[in-house]
Amino acid sequence: MKEFRSDISGFYKLSMDERQKLLSELINLTQDEIEILNTLGYFKPNQIDTLIENVIGSFQLPFGLAFNFKINNKDYIIPMVIEEPSVVAAASNAARFARKHGGFMSENVQSVMISQIQITQLQDIEYAKKKILDNKDRILKIANEQDPLVNELGGGAIDLEIRELNTRKGKMLILHLLVNVLDAMGANIVNTMAESVSPLIEEITEGKIYLRILSNLATHRIARSKATFDKDLLGGEDVVEGIINAYEFALADPYRATTHNKGIMNGIVALTLATGNDTRAIESGAHAFASLSGKYSPLTKFELDSKGNLVGEIEVPLALGIIGGMTKIHPMARLALKILNVKSASELSQVGAALGLAQNVAALRALASEGIQKGHMALHSRNIAKIAGVPDELIEKVAKKMVEKKKIRVDYAREILKKINDGENL
Ligand code: MEV
Repeated sequence: MKEFRSDISGFYKLSMDERQKLLSELINLTQDEIEILNTLGYFKPNQIDTLIENVIGSFQLPFGLAFNFKINNKDYIIPMVIEEPSVVAAASNAARFARKHGGFMSENVQSVMISQIQITQLQDIEYAKKKILDNKDRILKIANEQDPLVNELGGGAIDLEIRELNTRKGKMLILHLLVNVLDAMGANIVNTMAESVSPLIEEITEGKIYLRILSNLATHRIARSKATFDKDLLGGEDVVEGIINAYEFALADPYRATTHNKGIMNGIVALTLATGNDTRAIESGAHAFASLSGKYSPLTKFELDSKGNLVGEIEVPLALGIIGGMTKIHPMARLALKILNVKSASELSQVGAALGLAQNVAALRALASEGIQKGHMALHSRNIAKIAGVPDELIEKVAKKMVEKKKIRVDYAREILKKINDGENL
């Protein structure tokens, strides 16, 4: 064994085998662990090695399907990648409650991203603003020269927004370059464009530019979806009343709104991951949007229709692409897009919004009735039984017993197993 130190340089230059060997010298990997590292699934070693740096293996997660979704009168089966039990089943359930009333209506989502250019050290802010506006066509032209293909397909830089910020380093002008990125998530396109226009902007404003980067708060790329969830399928008036109360709770309390929105993101992030999109971009955008009013708020809204059914709406920025990034490189992401059968980034975002809404309704319904733990515990108990070494054919039996006794623990699973093996009647 080598001395354990983290200052290892040149790790990236090694082959995957060599990296594993080096790691093994540091933490003594077993043969089983090395085998796990070498289980790359559908990835070839040279493929996975190019995706990020210092790769030693791949990390697998379950890939499940949510059913019953009808969105804008089209049926969808939604792939989800998530480690949490109950989420996929919950989404499918809520979609069934909405299906009875025609399913989800989602609005078209413009694929317009914001690229921010930070202009500092300006002598005359008004002069700089005027210069930018006077040169708007030139700026857009330079931006559009960066990606002729996007232009040809009808996208590209379309507009500018100028914002004035008071900072501790004085006044800054923040120029937003608005770019229609069509079916891409768009980060690469807009970042390239922002960098390309910066020299001209520095020249005309006589300022100094530092940052040139997209904003993940994609307020020009908002997905909206609405659905009516059947009162009886939800569990009756009292459950619906509970959901409305849960919504009011979230509206009034950021502590609750955070968890409320986490439930929404269970669905949206699972779809984001399944389709090879950037989950961090989606998360940060959603949470920033939730606090745009100055108070962190729920991303959904609820009311009752005249018959007492639950009408839910969601509004969330969703910068999801169907081309670029991992979407076409990752074999499972490609498959996810095939299952989804979406023809555009807008359509994918429409699905994402509907899924987020369904996920939220399902969570609130469970919380307002039997509580969330029942469903969770049934699945959790199977995992615990497995960890306890219960053989496959007895897992169901042991798990059921643990749930019944409300004791979901490895030691208890072993105790039950022992009783079964000793021939005790349970
Ligand atoms: C758990 O992953 C998500 C919930 O906490 C969401 C919520 O509380 O609304 C159940």
